Amino acid sequence: MYGTAENLWSRSLEDFPLTEPLEQKLRFLVGYATLAPSGHNSQPWQFGVGSDDIFVLADRIRALPVVDPQDRELAISCGAAIGTLEVAARRFGLKASVVLLPDGGNPDHLAQIAFSDGVPPDDHEIELFDAIQARRTNRTAYFMEQLPNELLSECIDVVAGSSVTLNWIEDNDAMETVAGLVAEGDQIQFDDPAFRRELGSWVRSSVLGSRDGMSGKGFGMPDILSPVGRFVIRTFDLGDSVAAADQKKILSASPALAVISSTNDDPESWVETGRALVRVLLTLTAKGLTASYLNQPIEIEALRQKLAEAVGVTGHPQILLRVGRSTDEIDPSVRRELADVIVM
Ligand SMILES: Cc1cc2nc3c(=O)[nH]c(=O)nc-3n(C[C@H](O)[C@H](O)[C@H](O)COP(=O)(O)O)c2cc1C
Repeated sequence: MYGTAENLWSRSLEDFPLTEPLEQKLRFLVGYATLAPSGHNSQPWQFGVGSDDIFVLADRIRALPVVDPQDRELAISCGAAIGTLEVAARRFGLKASVVLLPDGGNPDHLAQIAFSDGVPPDDHEIELFDAIQARRTNRTAYFMEQLPNELLSECIDVVAGSSVTLNWIEDNDAMETVAGLVAEGDQIQFDDPAFRRELGSWVRSSVLGSRDGMSGKGFGMPDILSPVGRFVIRTFDLGDSVAAADQKKILSASPALAVISSTNDDPESWVETGRALVRVLLTLTAKGLTASYLNQPIEIEALRQKLAEAVGVTGHPQILLRVGRSTDEIDPSVRRELADVIVM
């Protein structure tokens, strides 16, 4: 019943266990949840499946204490898995009722989701679902073309109603300021051997069997050379070259940037951010666009306020994306098997 990680990216609708009890259907849906993005592809989630509900736990063994000391991005990643699960549930006509942080005594219990029969999915819900398996983090250069206004508005609307807001940055001056902050963030992070060690430890070869972490491919090398990439990242301060490359990519290969921010800065807001993030990413994917992350000035507290001021955000910046169109084909990243993430 449990598929391998590769199957999850290409499994078909017909595999849905239509005639089986709800619990079996929910186990199937967890497969889509695991296709969500996560920091360093750490997949810091666990799922418990009951007869009509799923609980989502933070798997803090998979935390990234150097880059993410508060587990903020960890909670965002779990929120992205929850958001993906909600989109998948709708595709099969299920209604998902989500309660965040339901157990005050257990901060790892991020969500309790009850499922019941709902109305059939509409075209928009089907479009979002179809984007789950097509979504990739794409770190290549994007075409410098104006993004359609309708799409910009749709991404703002898709997060509305939650405590999360999306702001677009297209203005040249603001882009330059943000590019400077990202470059400063790269330099601070790569200057820290602990940051390099942590990042390097998550660069892993999928060909050599890894089911989590990032392939060296994401850093422009063949997958099989991932161990070399890990060594280089761990050993050398690449801050200057990474900063210069990021700055160039923002200014000459990113038609727009987007900041996702939240009113508060607590675990619930982080999970909400993840749910919103995934709706934005799936909306972009459905329209043939792609995105990648520039979170450095958010990860470094001293730069976070500067970023908020530069882009006119009143809340707390949580995620910074570059958005555009690319014709580069990106391989799907690896995922752990369902048996490893379903705890009951
Ligand atoms: C909260 C969060 C933070 C992330 N931060 C970064 C980042 O700073 N730089 C980056 O290149 N990718 C970042 N990513 C993207 C992940 O590396 C990516 O999701 C993961 O490797 C899986 O690949 P996929 O998104 O193509 O499925 C982040 C993703 C999430 C959800």
